[in-house]
Amino acid sequence: MQDTNEVVVLRLGHRPGRDERMTTHVGLTARALGADRVVVAGAASEPQATVEEVVDRFGGPFAVETADGHRAFLREWDGAVVHLTMYGLPIQEVEAEIREAHAAGPLAVVVGSEKVPFDVYERADFNVGVTNQPHSEVAGLAVFLDRLFEGRELDREWADAAHRVVPKETGKLVEPVDE
Ligand SMILES: C[S@@+](CC[C@H](N)C(=O)[O-])C[C@H]1O[C@@H](n2cnc3c(N)ncnc32)[C@H](O)[C@@H]1O
Repeated sequence: MQDTNEVVVLRLGHRPGRDERMTTHVGLTARALGADRVVVAGAASEPQATVEEVVDRFGGPFAVETADGHRAFLREWDGAVVHLTMYGLPIQEVEAEIREAHAAGPLAVVVGSEKVPFDVYERADFNVGVTNQPHSEVAGLAVFLDRLFEGRELDREWADAAHRVVPKETGKLVEPVDE
């Protein structure tokens, strides 16, 4: 189900056995930086389990889902679609328009792995480059979400966390969250 202003990351082209870490990092980055859900096109039990463990430990809400393919998902998606690609328009030129689209409804953010099929470029309302240089879906997603939320995601509160990190100048402290 689509919530009014949810942000969903659609991860394309996950190859079981090859892309486990990268897909996991897409999911963790989506969660940490303010998205509501990640949908992985393809079977992705390992990334799904890892991200769900992080949600159980450090809070949510955040959902991980898999879909048979991207086409059915995008056909049924009733909202704006952003496709992150090095060939797209510079993010700094389109971010305001994307924020307006997000204020009006849900947003799907598509990231690829290998070659992205051309129908995704055609379906997207915005093909967006985070620079026009090749880098990674994790880096592109992180910069995009930060621009979308204009930094507010950094102050997000987490619900139903079992543990929380206590920020320290030096060292590591993780404590249980009291009910
Ligand atoms: C390693 S790249 C491979 C892309 C592939 N060569 C293609 O032509 O579709 C994987 C993903 O990282 C993201 N990406 C890489 N560079 C990007 C950039 N400069 N801006 C936005 N996203 C980028 C895109 O989502 C892309 O599908």
